[in-house]
Amino acid sequence: MTSTKIAVIGGSGIYEIDGLEDANWTTVETPWGTPSDAILTGTLDGVEMAFLPRHGRGHVHSPTTVPYRANIDALKRLCCRDVISVSACGSFREEMAPGDFVIVDQFIDRTFAREKSFFGTGCVAHVSVAHPTCPRLGDACETAARDAGINVHRGGTYLAMEGPQFSTLAESRMYRESWGADVIGMTNMPEAKLAREAELCYASVAMITDYDSWHPDHGEVDVSQIIATLMGNADKGRDLVARLPKLLGAERAPCPHGCDRALEYAILTQPE
Ligand code: ADE
Repeated sequence: MTSTKIAVIGGSGIYEIDGLEDANWTTVETPWGTPSDAILTGTLDGVEMAFLPRHGRGHVHSPTTVPYRANIDALKRLCCRDVISVSACGSFREEMAPGDFVIVDQFIDRTFAREKSFFGTGCVAHVSVAHPTCPRLGDACETAARDAGINVHRGGTYLAMEGPQFSTLAESRMYRESWGADVIGMTNMPEAKLAREAELCYASVAMITDYDSWHPDHGEVDVSQIIATLMGNADKGRDLVARLPKLLGAERAPCPHGCDRALEYAILTQPE
């Protein structure tokens, strides 16, 4: 058993952790550049936590310019093992309504203008992302959401789009009807893939703000609509996060799902 920090990457509307003791913003530099912002560290219910605002305080990084590699590497350097991503999303399902949360367990990666791997020239590795999220972390997020009275859906496929524009109506219909996606957002990829390469456990809590553009009764999505729902979601999201340390504790045995051993059979380059 080793002691560990729980990391939270907060999306639009979540810029801190409530009730954090000995809170301190720490600057971390990485070989992959500077993370989105300094990282807020502290203790909650006796468990060390690290919080990183994905878009930076003041929302200065677009989904494309978020330094995903630096963010994941910085959390690894701070000895985090669990990473909980919290982000806003649109919904492709009538029953997944604005205000509801989804514990995502699959992704379709449609992003194309981002650095997606720590591996390339010099060291080549192919990790499996068949199951890109950690069920142990998903269990904790689901329990925390239910305890907080949040309407939560366990499992769902997240379509990661490049943005920053929202989808066309044709794209929205295709993702929903042909591709079987449940929710859509702009930030969980390549974050989830990089977390796996860094051998971190990763879970994604997607907070629904809108029905994208497919829904005949809701018209097209715009930012004012998103912000209206985002405020309520952010309060619920912070409540969920505050419940995680008690559920997860400070000690970690090896991950039962192998997230912390993802590189064991993944590296092809011969050691020198
Ligand atoms: N984030 C929140 N709502 C979204 C949507 N409809 N599409 C992409 N990202 C989103």
